[in-house]
Amino acid sequence: MNRTYASETSKLVGKEVTVKGWVNSVRSHGKIVFFDLRDRSGLLQVVIKKARVKPEDIIAVTGTVVKRPANLVNPKIVSGSVELQGSTIEILSPSRELPFPLDGDGLDIDEDLRLKYRYLDLRRPRLANNLTLRSKYVQSLREYLFECDFTEIETPLLTKSTPEGSRDFVVPSRHYPGQFYALPQSPQQYKQLLMTAGFEKYFQTAKCLRDEDPRADRAYEHTQLDLEMSFVTKEDVMSVVEGMITHALGKVGFGDKIISSPFPVITYESALAKYGADKFDLRTPEEKQAGKLAFAWVVDFPFFEKTEDGGFTFTHNPFSAPSPEHEQWLLTKQNVEKIVTQQYDLVCNGREVGGGSIRANSSAVLRSTFEIMGYKDEEINEQFGHMLSAFDFGTPPHGGCAHGFERLLMILQNEEYIREVQAFPMSGKGHTSVMSAPSALDHEQLSELKLEIVSAKKLSGGQEVFAAIVKLLEDKKITGVKVTEHAPVLTSEEAAKVRGTNIDQGAKALVLYGDKKPLMVVVPGSVKVDMKAIKKLANIKDLRMASPDEVTSLTSLPIGAIPPFGSLFGIETYCDIGLSKNERIVFNAGLHDHSIEMSYKDWARLENPLVSAFAQM
Ligand code: AMO
Repeated sequence: MNRTYASETSKLVGKEVTVKGWVNSVRSHGKIVFFDLRDRSGLLQVVIKKARVKPEDIIAVTGTVVKRPANLVNPKIVSGSVELQGSTIEILSPSRELPFPLDGDGLDIDEDLRLKYRYLDLRRPRLANNLTLRSKYVQSLREYLFECDFTEIETPLLTKSTPEGSRDFVVPSRHYPGQFYALPQSPQQYKQLLMTAGFEKYFQTAKCLRDEDPRADRAYEHTQLDLEMSFVTKEDVMSVVEGMITHALGKVGFGDKIISSPFPVITYESALAKYGADKFDLRTPEEKQAGKLAFAWVVDFPFFEKTEDGGFTFTHNPFSAPSPEHEQWLLTKQNVEKIVTQQYDLVCNGREVGGGSIRANSSAVLRSTFEIMGYKDEEINEQFGHMLSAFDFGTPPHGGCAHGFERLLMILQNEEYIREVQAFPMSGKGHTSVMSAPSALDHEQLSELKLEIVSAKKLSGGQEVFAAIVKLLEDKKITGVKVTEHAPVLTSEEAAKVRGTNIDQGAKALVLYGDKKPLMVVVPGSVKVDMKAIKKLANIKDLRMASPDEVTSLTSLPIGAIPPFGSLFGIETYCDIGLSKNERIVFNAGLHDHSIEMSYKDWARLENPLVSAFAQM
């Protein structure tokens, strides 16, 4: 390729080269322009006459590499001893002004905005470094396992709902209406079945999906380095995991940060007694300061814990084996609370970064585990019959572990949120980056899947929608709400007249279809919607108004009665910035003869619309 990287230029003094990349920052000195060009290897200063470049334009520059005078050498950049005297420049792809700056760590910028433009946010060195480190770390984990003769095997994403301590994300089946696949909370059962199949040493970097409320170190989607081995003891598995992590940390330059190797092993009971928790931080303040890594294994957990209704549930993993001396208790369901599981968790600096166990490999043990948890015979057969059956065909003793390496990367990079080490994470509120899912399905898709949206249907007709809005405002303790009954009105003009309010205080809610998905746009009463602006902002190709029938089928309401609460109908709401100029707004609340007046700010806080200029000039 006819292209030189910034990092290569310091060895090419006097040579003509072509560099390609992004304009990082521009300084104009009269007719001469100085700018830093950024490519994946780093920065290079370019000097050129009369170039019209803007930050983040993508360019190709050809010129001669020259040495910088000693006093102008910049040791902070890869090519700091040289600069490029550009002779020709080509703009390969110009950039608009960015929605936020890219220098700095970006942590002070609204996260929703950063995630909406994640592809720009990822240009930020902090995030680019996080992802590069992630790639190298995972490569080193895999390298170690291949070295130990593991086989990498992928397992399905569309699978069956099984208990792993969390809620499933489910996917409706088109061929079998009313039936659902579940996305895996982990490859637990498949990896055990691979042991039945005789692979003996399996691993994969596995996507796991769990519908539990996101937290700083917990996400709907996370990736595990998942492994399983046959004919092993607990110590064998722990030693492989420990070796793998130590190797990979060494490869990415953190080897000397590990405080003690082998990792200390602590029982659950003594961890509780000593640290008050099964996740603990063993570092001294000095070690914290020095960014040290304190790993520890926690073992001997109780297998079961009491549920609120007096039954039992598993503490970690229902597929684990009890410790051998407690197997009889498990089979006879005695001393249930005292049964210890062969589970091991890996803790680092106060976070759980891995967990695994030696598994049950007899159908009697697995069946008894589910019976202790109150499952009926039919439920066990229906949900886990496949495992029982596999065990009855002979399954070697086996065990494994999953390393939640994203949490370790957070620790390495001093990040507070797991999202900062994921390329396209979801927001803390559960919205995807860039493409804002979840979003409504269009009618065709719903009917193909034989699904009906009950929540929208539940609100059937104006009275119910009106009541739902009143309840929402009460629940959220919104004050200063004025409800009025008046003669039925159909247009914004009529409404303003009977309400005695300014027409542009009226929040006119319009339903549209953008790329076949419904959306709501709220504009001041006298305003026409600028379709082009919506298309551009929401990146929609095909945008049209919904027909009156479509509006009614989505909202259960006639035109003219639609309140500006798309969220009530599962539709995303956009709002014209003009409306935000009003201190108070007023709208028909599901009925032609009922209006609600309230503060714009309260409404915006409840509905959280995307606000921009959507009015036709
Ligand atoms: P477990 O549920 O303990 O075990 O998960 C293993 C490790 O994965 C990480 N982790 C998470 N990281 C981010 N967000 C989440 N929601 C999340 N949930 C878990 C943690 C955790 O230690 N099948 C078993 C493994 C096994 O027994 O082999 C399992 O998934 O670091």
